[in-house]
Amino acid sequence: MAAPCQLGPLSACPVSALPVTVLPLPTLLLNLHNAATAAGRPTPRLLAVSKTQPAEAVAQLAAQGQRAFGENYVQEAVAKIDALAALGLEWHLIGHLQSNKADLAAQRFDWVQSVDRAKLVKALAAHRPAALPPLNVLVQVNIDDEDSKHGCSPDAVPALAAAIAAEPRLCLRGLMAIPAPWPDAARRAQAFERMHALFSDLAAGHPQVDTLSMGMSGDYPEAIAHGATMVRVGTALFGARHRPDPQ
Ligand SMILES: Cc1ncc(COP(=O)(O)O)c(C=O)c1O
Repeated sequence: MAAPCQLGPLSACPVSALPVTVLPLPTLLLNLHNAATAAGRPTPRLLAVSKTQPAEAVAQLAAQGQRAFGENYVQEAVAKIDALAALGLEWHLIGHLQSNKADLAAQRFDWVQSVDRAKLVKALAAHRPAALPPLNVLVQVNIDDEDSKHGCSPDAVPALAAAIAAEPRLCLRGLMAIPAPWPDAARRAQAFERMHALFSDLAAGHPQVDTLSMGMSGDYPEAIAHGATMVRVGTALFGARHRPDPQ
């Protein structure tokens, strides 16, 4: 069944302006595998983006074997993390994180993919409980320099990555980006290529770096072709979100 993203001006649809078909989990996993094989690359991990979806929908996917889920809002996520604690799922924060919520994020998530400033690095490190493993962290890069998006500039990645790597309570795992959904495929490809180059440079200096998180419902095959090791898919798995993003 097709569930088209609301098409309109790019600014009105900041996450994905490309058409999206809702797929059963096994079909999506097969698509990831096929896209990776066609590109001669390893199959990426799937992060199921469950923002605005109820805990029951997460539990249904978990029953089919999906372990990693992505959430954009700390409080919404914590309610689901508590409700589904018995399932032992892996939770990723992928939305913008305000510094005053860093303590809760450091306590409750397994990964934070949206680290884009030094202040946040300090706050997450200070609040990661000693009883938990180090918090996995990705640096979010605003690869198309969009006013509407968070993320650091590509030039800021080395210093931010070094600050994360210096924190024993954090584990630098790589980079995350939300490239602009340009209608022109060549322009989308350029952003993915620039992310892959940044990722390769980062991994050369930090052996533990293994994650390039890019690609969503509308563009995951292209992201995989350009080296994504993790794709974040919401609409294509769950259907349309249950409420719009707050502006
Ligand atoms: C950072 C991020 N990644 C991935 C997604 C999933 O996008 P889609 O529903 O197009 O798969 C979202 C959705 O809001 C998001 O905010």
